[in-house]
Amino acid sequence: MNLEKPVIVGKSKTIKDIIRLTKQVGEYDLNVLITGESGVGKELVARALHFYSKRISEPFVKINCAAIPADLLESELFGYEKGAFTGANSVRIGKFELAKGGTIFLDEIGEMPISLQAKLLQVLQDRRYFRIGGHKEVKAMARVVAATNKNLEAEIAAGSFREDLFYRLSTICIHIPPLRDRKEDILPLVEYFISQLKIKYPNKEFSWDEDVLEMFKTYHWPGNVRELYNYIQRIFVLGDFISVKQELQEKLTQKNELVSSIGSRIHDLDKSIDINFNKSNIPSLKEIKDSVTKKVEKMVIEKILKETNWNRKETARLLKISYRALLYKMKDMDISPPPGIR
Ligand SMILES: Nc1ncnc2c1ncn2[C@@H]1O[C@H](COP(=O)(O)OP(=O)(O)O)[C@@H](O)[C@H]1O
Ligand SMILES: [Mg+2]
Repeated sequence: MNLEKPVIVGKSKTIKDIIRLTKQVGEYDLNVLITGESGVGKELVARALHFYSKRISEPFVKINCAAIPADLLESELFGYEKGAFTGANSVRIGKFELAKGGTIFLDEIGEMPISLQAKLLQVLQDRRYFRIGGHKEVKAMARVVAATNKNLEAEIAAGSFREDLFYRLSTICIHIPPLRDRKEDILPLVEYFISQLKIKYPNKEFSWDEDVLEMFKTYHWPGNVRELYNYIQRIFVLGDFISVKQELQEKLTQKNELVSSIGSRIHDLDKSIDINFNKSNIPSLKEIKDSVTKKVEKMVIEKILKETNWNRKETARLLKISYRALLYKMKDMDISPPPGIR
């Protein structure tokens, strides 16, 4: 049972809307898809959806599709019977069954192998399935909440996510924007985390440093609320304001340098574009945007590939797209490694 109330903190309009939507949707048995970068609070919202549902006294079971090897994921989800395969020495109950009439939280759904996506879709349609190697039907009663930090529309275009499953999962879609796009939430979050820490460690002396707060407001928080929480814990325990400020400043400078170097390349690009339009051949704004976006994407992908010694997994991770989406883009943009590198 998960009876502790998940608290979603924030005063931006976005967060207020998300809180309202979460309460509204919670009590209905609709599938919900939560999207947003890592650390924005997707799991928190999933837990809140469970909290506000009639399923509160039933289990909340989480499965991280990215953390489990693809070939084990199916048995983790659906379980197996004794003797289903070599090594299956006893029955194993899957997460769907463990969740009973509660909520199953499919985290990082974008990483689910396409073959398993087909099976999941089937289960969501039929609301029943067999354990691997089993003959007795098991009812799938749990409410499904899924989350991803990937852009599933792009994954669908790249052929790595099933469109029909996407529609099935996303009856309701909750998008949580990155923290840098809702800076009004930073201060309330800081205050909330500090108050929680003070409750937990009542004997710890602690006072704030205004400069760090200012820095917190300008920093871009690539790791979102999770990163903010980590910094606050560290400052609370160590009181090392000065080194935190230095660290944030360095990260900020690196990021600005990267963005401005991309910016200046676009400026060069701009100069090379022939502005000799005549009225009959002006491309649509969308065509221009798509073509420029593609050029910039190609440039950045090539750069990161070089930087990582053509490590495609690492490049995909750094650019926050899936491995398959990267391969697709490389093919589409005609990017291939130099001779001698595979
Ligand atoms: N709006 C919020 N209010 C309070 N805590 C939050 C909020 N958003 C995120 N957190 C906290 O930040 C951490 C990361 O959130 P999590 O839900 O795990 O993110 P995600 O699943 O998107 O990676 C957790 O400790 C979570 O409780
Ligand atoms: Mg998470």
